[in-house]
Amino acid sequence: MAFFSLWACVLVGCFSASLAEALNLSAVYPPLWDESPGQLSDYRVENRKYIIDPWIYLERMGMYRILLNKTAKYFETYGPENEQNTLWGLPLQHGWQYGSGRLADPTGRTDCGYESNPFCISEESWWADLNYFLCVLPFLSAVDSGIMGIQPDQVILLPPPTSQTKFCLTVSSCWSSYPELMKKWNTFYQHLKSDCRNFDGLLVDLWAAHTSTLFATSKYFEDRFDNYAVPETNFGKAWIVVVEYLAIYKFPTVLHKVYAFQKGLPPRLLATDDKAPFISDFTDLQNMLLSFVNILYCVNSKAGLIQTLDSLK
Ligand SMILES: *[C@@H]1O[C@H](CO)[C@@H](O)[C@H](O)[C@H]1NC(C)=O
Ligand SMILES: *[C@@H]1O[C@H](CO)[C@@H](O)[C@H](O)[C@H]1NC(C)=O
Repeated sequence: MAFFSLWACVLVGCFSASLAEALNLSAVYPPLWDESPGQLSDYRVENRKYIIDPWIYLERMGMYRILLNKTAKYFETYGPENEQNTLWGLPLQHGWQYGSGRLADPTGRTDCGYESNPFCISEESWWADLNYFLCVLPFLSAVDSGIMGIQPDQVILLPPPTSQTKFCLTVSSCWSSYPELMKKWNTFYQHLKSDCRNFDGLLVDLWAAHTSTLFATSKYFEDRFDNYAVPETNFGKAWIVVVEYLAIYKFPTVLHKVYAFQKGLPPRLLATDDKAPFISDFTDLQNMLLSFVNILYCVNSKAGLIQTLDSLK
């Protein structure tokens, strides 16, 4: 099917031009990577427990930075500088959300995420809420799997100001609220720790955990779409489909590939009048990718492709 070939080209071919500049590592890392906590002791400690506020950008990014650091040794054989670590997709995606204004309060009722309060992550943000689970579940599951070198009860996350019940805050509460998801992340880490790990198999386990997390948790936050312009809402819905395709094609979520891919993502929230491929402040690549995502989403909802592909898995 021509459509799949086009997608395959997007994945492997069309983004390689950016690789040369991607060789400068500090330009490739997410925003404020070096400023975020690099070890657990950088967080507040009370009674031997680490207290983390995942509603502050630096603190959430720090969870990723520590996760990447603690898993680096398992990826050593695949390449230098931890760049082949398949967990890079998570912090890079979060960095894009931050840089493009997607973590700010879309209702505009608070200054959360804006100039006067730039590191605040808004619970009203659809992107921030879904990312919560793609940060906290992999992080707490890593703690639980013994990868972080601390006991499971030594981490406590702080809830956001109002929706206190939707977000699990500890290893044990995440296990009781999301047992299937925690199990999938655990499978990934058990594979990672085993002597017979292989790169392709790790990608399969990682994508299985990633897509399950996204699908299971996205249904709780549909009402958040009310806060966005229609093109942004459609992009958000389409993005879930895109992620499913990336998973089916086992997109290698290593540092340089994700960096190059993300150069094509919308650099700001989409507004009512935005029509790809004619958005004047977007690059050609960004216009092209957005058009492509819109087509993918449209074709997918018409043909029920995802359901079809799901049944083949
Ligand atoms: C690498 O990128 C960083 C951040 O963009 C920049 O400050 C630095 O000068 C670059 N280094 C080289 C060698 O290009
Ligand atoms: C992990 O963090 C420690 C402490 O900050 C640091 O010494 C070490 O070099 C880091 N390892 C990697 C692979 O980045």
